[in-house]
Amino acid sequence: MLKEIKTIGVLTSGGDAPGMNAAVRAVVRTGLSKGFRMMGIERGYNGLLNGEVREMDLRSVSEIIHRGGTILYTARCLEFKTKEGQQKAADRCRELGIDALVVIGGDGSFRGAKDMAALGIPCIGIPGTIDNDIACSEYTIGYDTAMNTAVEMVDKLRDTTQSHDRCSVVEVMGRNAGYIALNVGIACGAVATLIPERPYDLERDILSRMKFTQKTGKKHFIVIVAEGVGHAQDIANEIQAATGIDSRATVLGHVQRGGSPTLRDRVTASTMGYHAVALLERGIYNRVVAVSADKIVDFDINVALSMHKTIDTFLLDVSNTISI
Ligand code: ADP
Ligand code: F6P
Repeated sequence: MLKEIKTIGVLTSGGDAPGMNAAVRAVVRTGLSKGFRMMGIERGYNGLLNGEVREMDLRSVSEIIHRGGTILYTARCLEFKTKEGQQKAADRCRELGIDALVVIGGDGSFRGAKDMAALGIPCIGIPGTIDNDIACSEYTIGYDTAMNTAVEMVDKLRDTTQSHDRCSVVEVMGRNAGYIALNVGIACGAVATLIPERPYDLERDILSRMKFTQKTGKKHFIVIVAEGVGHAQDIANEIQAATGIDSRATVLGHVQRGGSPTLRDRVTASTMGYHAVALLERGIYNRVVAVSADKIVDFDINVALSMHKTIDTFLLDVSNTISI
């Protein structure tokens, strides 16, 4: 029998994502409204191990709903991946009087939460990553903002690509997933979009499409490459060698992780944060909050981590058919 939850700790972990602040704000304010004591843990599991913890009040989360990054800072913590590190973190929770944890991050962070749960610390995970690669959830906080940033950047590249009759190969983030790439490819009319879920063939997936569009009068090309596929520069070199078309690589990089969150990310973060604390209030824990059919739901953390997400073949068809 777990002791009654009076104090909740909240942390952000792994890569930051726009909307994490909105999630922290929602967790803190919902917690306070329900009578919990709220503690902010800085720098993810690192901060927990080092005791970098501060009490949060209503005003401690003011003026952050529109800000990218995370006021709690984030980190990747190697020590926490060890059994000793996890035991130390659980002991630290008890020393600090933290009865439950809300972990905002990606699946690595949730694996850590699962380990904490096994050591008797009730946990709730909130999906916060631009990659949208949390299997149990159709949506993760930061995804919309990151894609909009990428689209804005590719639109700018298109201007100069068109002026020079060039090919721009643009590498977008996503770790091992192609969700950002596929959507950005459609939104930007990329002649080819390469994602890790579908091994590509240079001739079939890029060159033949370029040749076909050249015959219809097209002289400039955008190719989107998910970082999990390979390096944009290598692909640009291959395209230039095969076609003679001046080809340039652009790696969008961490710009995709910054900026003011979109409405979608702010609202999703707010509703997920609220839901996380509402679960703890009802004595329900070791769950991952998720979006399913536009509703906020939750899954057992072990089940959530065993699930797999597949790429939307409809979007692949759309991309192949109309981006030509
Ligand atoms: P994300 O949460 O965005 O997937 P990471 O994979 O970098 O990011 O994970 C964030 C942190 O979560 C890691 O630095 C580590 O402290 C913890 N973590 C990751 N994987 C595990 C694991 N398998 N077991 C325990 N903790 C983990
Ligand atoms: O998970 C978010 C993400 O931005 C991935 O898209 C990318 O692969 C990775 O983090 C980059 O991590 P880092 O911040 O360590 O460069």
